[in-house]
Amino acid sequence: MLVVEELTKRFGANTAVDAVSFTVDQPMMIGIIGRSGAGKSTFLRMMNRLTEASSGMLAFEGRDVLGLSGRARRAWQSDCAMIFQQFNLVPRMDVVSNVLHGTLGRRSTLATLFNLFPREDIHRAIDILDRLGIAEHGPKRAEALSGGQQQRVAIARALMQDPKIILADEPIASLDPMNAQTVMEALRRIHEEDGRMVIANLHTLDTARRYCDRVIGMRDGRIVFDGTPEQLTTGVARDIYGAGADFSEEATSTEIRDHAARTHTASMAAPA
Ligand SMILES: Nc1ncnc2c1ncn2[C@@H]1O[C@H](COP(=O)(O)OP(=O)(O)O)[C@@H](O)[C@H]1O
Ligand SMILES: [Mg+2]
Repeated sequence: MLVVEELTKRFGANTAVDAVSFTVDQPMMIGIIGRSGAGKSTFLRMMNRLTEASSGMLAFEGRDVLGLSGRARRAWQSDCAMIFQQFNLVPRMDVVSNVLHGTLGRRSTLATLFNLFPREDIHRAIDILDRLGIAEHGPKRAEALSGGQQQRVAIARALMQDPKIILADEPIASLDPMNAQTVMEALRRIHEEDGRMVIANLHTLDTARRYCDRVIGMRDGRIVFDGTPEQLTTGVARDIYGAGADFSEEATSTEIRDHAARTHTASMAAPA
């Protein structure tokens, strides 16, 4: 279904994603974990063609994704909808219109200019919001909603594209635990009920364990773990994060990065 081979992205001398290879043979929910800077976002961006790969191959359902251009590239971007940590909604626009913007790719410029949406799209947007439990907020401005509700609006906008894959880049990193749970449950349900593949970069280990069928661990641009949540032991996790013996399973990637930086500075400062 999805084949990734030796996918690489270099920024100057820095290799952000280093010969990443894996295959997925059925729609599943995949979590990508690793420290800040491990290459998680760059991987998702290459997959959705927001960033061009330096080398390697990525194919979906037998089609070479990296070779697509023009209309075919835009169709692919619509097939793999992206969700971001900061929701990327239009704050002053109402929720329903934000969701309808998920159909922009296939509407005429003139219709877009006058914010004209076909009636059936409006009904579909409301149905999707209803499915995510936020239909009653449809007329409100996006900025009036809580973070968890806004992220569900972003998921609704993604679903408007009827994507085969949902790519989520740290979708719950800005949310409190309650809202984080609602958003992860929504993604899980969309995967199970619709059979869509979900690939989510996650900043905590326990979220990946709890919601994903498969976890990929990245370190310095490389895949250092690829397995089930059960195989993801504390020892393995410590290795993925390059953390010390005091590694805590509840820690976030950001905390681990800060901690590692502090320990590193401390050890350099210590007399030899
Ligand atoms: N646009 C860019 N230009 C230069 N370097 C970048 C760019 N985007 C990411 N990087 C670098 O690539 C590496 C991986 O970054 P990223 O994919 O954002 O990691 P993660 O999402 O795991 O935190 C980092 O070293 C980062 O500094
Ligand atoms: Mg990132």
